[in-house]
Amino acid sequence: MAVRKPHPLKIIGSLVLVGAGKMGGAMLDGWIARGLVPKRITIVEPQPGKAVKALARRGLKLNPKPGPKAKADAAAIVIAVKPQTAPEAVPPLGLYIGKSTLVLSIMAGRTIGFLEKTLPPGTAIVRAMPNLPASIGLGISVAVANAKVSARQRKLAGDLLAAIGKVEWVGDEALIDAVTALSGSGPAYVFLLTEAMTKAGIAAGLPAELAARLARETVAGSGELLHRSALDAATLRQNVTSPGGTTAAALEVLMGPGGFNEILTKAIAAATKRSRELAG
Ligand SMILES: NC(=O)c1ccc[n+]([C@@H]2O[C@H](COP(=O)([O-])OP(=O)(O)OC[C@H]3O[C@@H](n4cnc5c(N)ncnc54)[C@H](OP(=O)(O)O)[C@@H]3O)[C@@H](O)[C@H]2O)c1
Repeated sequence: MAVRKPHPLKIIGSLVLVGAGKMGGAMLDGWIARGLVPKRITIVEPQPGKAVKALARRGLKLNPKPGPKAKADAAAIVIAVKPQTAPEAVPPLGLYIGKSTLVLSIMAGRTIGFLEKTLPPGTAIVRAMPNLPASIGLGISVAVANAKVSARQRKLAGDLLAAIGKVEWVGDEALIDAVTALSGSGPAYVFLLTEAMTKAGIAAGLPAELAARLARETVAGSGELLHRSALDAATLRQNVTSPGGTTAAALEVLMGPGGFNEILTKAIAAATKRSRELAG
């Protein structure tokens, strides 16, 4: 299969990335892969990794003192520090925010209200919630914009997030709690499924290593199939279930009372509630 080249990322002005850890680093990789030249990027990061230092040798600006020109220049500032770092990391960013600068935050639980309070009045802000597969460019982010974001800035935010996977938009920020519970925390549920399948395989008599390999490849392969297929999950499941067969016997348990649907509904409700409690 031919590998499709990603869409080039076109930005007028410069881009400031605050926090080049796991997520920020993945976004940076995606932007560079989409042809953004290092000299258009500024990084604020106390402990830059090797990749960032290598880009600094190619013209990327690392921890500069923002002068008056920074404001006019910055098309977007992407905030990718840990939420608990926000009270110290966000206020100084006012130095980069000019009339047309977009602020894109991927911090979990940090609301648009918090950012509006902390940044200069009138700042255009997009809050987005990515998830872990973003680290290999296969994430999904859900974004929400404040009233100051123009159509052009919304497009820019979408393009910046597309570097780490798919992008969805919602109009109501309150939905971000359920998004966090579903796609944000979701990779952990899939890893737990893999662990549980491994344990169940061992209980059914398989050697531990073989059970772990079978569970891992089954989850990964099914995920990839889901990714590539035009069919929805229910149809893929029905297609692999013959009446009276082995899969049907397992599904009778999984889809019965206290099964997958019930337990995941409870789990996602608990995560949604926790996300609401943590938001600020
Ligand atoms: N990882 C995920 O799956 C995931 C999913 C959804 C959302 N998010 C969000 O993405 C954000 C980043 O997460 P992450 O996993 O990439 O965390 P991370 O790897 O810890 O990256 C954060 C980076 O920010 C740096 N930093 C700390 N203080 C700073 C400051 N004042 N100015 C600039 N940079 C600073 C940190 O440096 P030090 O190491 O020196 O502290 C670190 O390199 C978080 O807000 C998280 O909620 C992550």
